Order: sequence, then structure tokens, then C-alpha cells
Amino acid sequence: MAISKTASPVLTGKVAFVTGGSRGIGAAIVRRLAEDGAAVAFSYASSSAPADELARSIEAEGGRTLALKIDSADAAALTAGIDEAARKLGRIDVLVNNAGVFLPGTLEDFSLEDFDRTLDINVRAVFVAAKAAARHMGEGGRIINIGSTNAERMPWPGGSAYAMSKSALKGLVQGLARDLGPRGITVNNVQPGPVNTDMNPVDGPNAAAMHGLMALARHARPEEIAGMVAYLASPEAAFVTGAGLNIDGGFAA
Ligand SMILES: NC(=O)c1ccc[n+]([C@@H]2O[C@H](COP(=O)([O-])OP(=O)(O)OC[C@H]3O[C@@H](n4cnc5c(N)ncnc54)[C@H](OP(=O)(O)O)[C@@H]3O)[C@@H](O)[C@H]2O)c1
Repeated sequence: MAISKTASPVLTGKVAFVTGGSRGIGAAIVRRLAEDGAAVAFSYASSSAPADELARSIEAEGGRTLALKIDSADAAALTAGIDEAARKLGRIDVLVNNAGVFLPGTLEDFSLEDFDRTLDINVRAVFVAAKAAARHMGEGGRIINIGSTNAERMPWPGGSAYAMSKSALKGLVQGLARDLGPRGITVNNVQPGPVNTDMNPVDGPNAAAMHGLMALARHARPEEIAGMVAYLASPEAAFVTGAGLNIDGGFAA
């Protein structure tokens, strides 16, 4: 039997919005969704140079993109940015809530300001963006959040607020999947283990300790996480919703 080839990339005609797309996992997701044929808007907090460079490289290869400087903690700005992307690119089919922060500290030294900032960016912004993007989505829409395997396992001191924020996404995803299921929109959580980015570099001081906890003793490449996001964004994943998918080298196993 001949192997059939699709005539065009799987996300041709679709529009995606990725938060925190300038660097790391977010930049890999932006590139992958663009390769898969989507027009991709993305936000960033302050890294204008890498954001502009990413946008230029996608446009040089014939893709459509839009880079927007938006602090995810600013709900009004995030909503306005998603509305702007929908207006300029025509719609929103895929929202990827990737922007996140890891602010470390144990109970004694962790400030309430850092607690609030962790929740504002890692949780509240996910709800805000989902609410804004869902208004522009039709049947087949996708909401994909980048959680963390730390929702399942936090094996060290100093990560309580971060682990709490990523655990909160599990409940949020389950509830939103119920809210949006009747409209044919899926909502899922991708939970990476260690990924080689500025947040968690492979040559960082904690890398060996992390690897010691894993079935596969290495960091992931950002592109590996982008591959799971691309699957969830694709028509093949139409029956996956309310799920938390670990991609963690067995960190939580
Ligand atoms: N790396 C890991 O090991 C790992 C593991 C599990 C889960 N995760 C999660 O994966 C996601 C991405 O992590 P990463 O490792 O790629 O992080 P990263 O290298 O620190 O990059 C973070 C990205 O998010 C953006 N960002 C940060 N705060 C923002 C804000 N307030 N508003 C808008 N954008 C903001 C940054 O923009 P600027 O460039 O402008 O700062 C950057 O594009 C996060 O949710 C993180 O919790 C990471």
C-alpha cells in the first residue's frame, strides 16, 4: 500500500497565539506551529531582540507572525493583545499558555510579592488568556497549557509556590475542558520535566541531581516539548481533553 502524503502542512489556515514565545520552550513552540502551517502570534515580557529575530526568521521562510510585548500579569494588556492578534490574523484556533516564572525560595524567605507574581503569571494569566481566546475560537479550537512535572512531584525544598501554581493548572484544565467541550474546544496540560532553557540550563548547578531522579537521565530539548504541543494542536488530538500529559523522562514515574 502506498504511503499517502498530505498536500499541505497540518495547521495550514489556522492561527495560534503563544504566550512567552521569545525564548526557550515558547520559541520552539512558535517555530514548530509555524512549520506546521499556522500563522503564529506570540507575546514576550521584555526580550525584544530575540522576539524580533524569531519573527524575522519565520517571515523569511514565508510564514505569518506577530510579536507582541505583553506582561502576562497585566490582564487587560493580555486580553487586548489576543484581541489584536485575532483582528490582524483573522481568528484564534490554538492558544498555548507557555509564559511562566520559577521564583525559588523556602517558606522562611519566600515573599508574598513573589507568591502573588507566581500566581499572576503561571495561573491567573492562563485563565485570562483562555477567556479572551475562547471568544475568537470555533469548533476544533485548542487550549494547551505548559504546566510542569512538578505538579506531580516536587522533590526539593524551595519550589512550593511553583509546584502549587503548576498543580493549579491541573484543576483549571479539567474544569475548562468541561466548560468548552460543548463547543468542540479541547483544553490540555503539557507537563515537562527538565528542559534545557535559560530557566533550567543543562549545565546549571541542579542538573545532575535532577538527572538522578529520572528514568532518562537528561534534559529535554525545547523541540521535544514543541512536538507534544504540535500533536495536541493537530486534528489527530480531537478526542484528547482535560488531560495532563507528562513529558518528563520519567521524573514523576
Ligand atoms: N525549563 C524547564 O525545565 C521547564 C520544565 C517544566 C515546565 N516549564 C515551563 O515551561 C514554560 C516555559 O519555560 P522556559 O524554560 O522556556 O522559560 P524561559 O527560558 O525562562 O523563557 C520564558 C519565556 O516566557 C516569557 N515570560 C516570562 N515572564 C513573562 C511575563 N510576565 N509575560 C510574558 N511573557 C513572559 C519570557 O519572555 P522574555 O524573553 O521577554 O523574558 C520567555 O519568552 C514555563 O511555564 C515553565 O514553567 C519549564
